[in-house]
Amino acid sequence: MPTDTTVPSIMLNNGVQIPQLGFGVFQIPPDETRAATLTALEAGYRHIDTAEMYGNEAGVGEAVRASGLERSDVFVTSKLNNGFHAYDDALAAIDGTLEELEFEHVDLFLIHWPLPDVGDYTETWRAMEEIYRQGKARAIGVSNFQPHHLRKIHESGTVVPAVNQIEVHPYFAQNDVRAFNAEHGIVTEAWSPIAQGAVLDDPTVVRIAEAHGRTPAQVVLRWHVERGDVVFPKSSTPERVRENFALFDFELTEGDLADLGALDRADGRRGPDPDTMNAVPKK
Ligand SMILES: NC(=O)c1ccc[n+]([C@@H]2O[C@H](COP(=O)([O-])OP(=O)(O)OC[C@H]3O[C@@H](n4cnc5c(N)ncnc54)[C@H](OP(=O)(O)O)[C@@H]3O)[C@@H](O)[C@H]2O)c1
Repeated sequence: MPTDTTVPSIMLNNGVQIPQLGFGVFQIPPDETRAATLTALEAGYRHIDTAEMYGNEAGVGEAVRASGLERSDVFVTSKLNNGFHAYDDALAAIDGTLEELEFEHVDLFLIHWPLPDVGDYTETWRAMEEIYRQGKARAIGVSNFQPHHLRKIHESGTVVPAVNQIEVHPYFAQNDVRAFNAEHGIVTEAWSPIAQGAVLDDPTVVRIAEAHGRTPAQVVLRWHVERGDVVFPKSSTPERVRENFALFDFELTEGDLADLGALDRADGRRGPDPDTMNAVPKK
């Protein structure tokens, strides 16, 4: 049994280190985000995943300052909102994000969705490269990109995305996209890692949790960690925030990993499909 309870870091393809476990703030109301993020930082999290789309970047920045930690102690990701894919719009959007956070830079900035109808995300990627060159993001990447989207970025771009953040949980294991990412030196980040709670009653998950004396959420999050992905479960419940952090003092067996892997199913996707998702907010 490992006794080291600290969160491991993963090295991105440009040498930047990212803590493998973070805290996600999707669907946390803006006026509750400061307190929720502070709870996570006090529990030991050093990585926060937000987005312009979530409307709560300001609360994340406030919590980092209120925590008494150095800015460099906390890895903060934000994302370029849909509707800002044009080159100049993307350059303006990062400035908006930095103003909200009151930061000089983010640690990771992602294109949130590829948006098939909007079309040319290679222009967007050119803007991301400029943002990176200007030092406004220590690393850049994408979210919800399929291999065919990534191939276009590879053909036209000069920087390989550091990260591809995609929906992954036991009902939607995404082995193909994860393998593509790995072959190209792109770290997979797993969003909705516990399927917003939908996998926690699964009999296989419950059985493995009971065998280890752990909770279903801890078992599922540990499965992600052992697969090598980055995770950032969301919770507005302080006990769960702490529970989700306690993943580094137990290990799953080969059998557990195989049984959890076998829960993958064709209709397991819960969020939007990146090949049809086109929602753009009104400016
Ligand atoms: N790039 C993208 O397109 C994208 C899309 C979705 C999400 N994300 C990112 O991924 C993060 C996580 O995904 P998510 O928020 O969709 O879902 P999630 O983390 O899989 O699940 C969150 C839900 O599970 C509950 N929960 C959390 N811990 C629990 C525990 N230990 N036991 C029981 N229930 C628990 C939470 O309830 P309470 O809050 O009530 O405790 C909440 O309802 C987001 O916050 C966001 O940062 C990215």
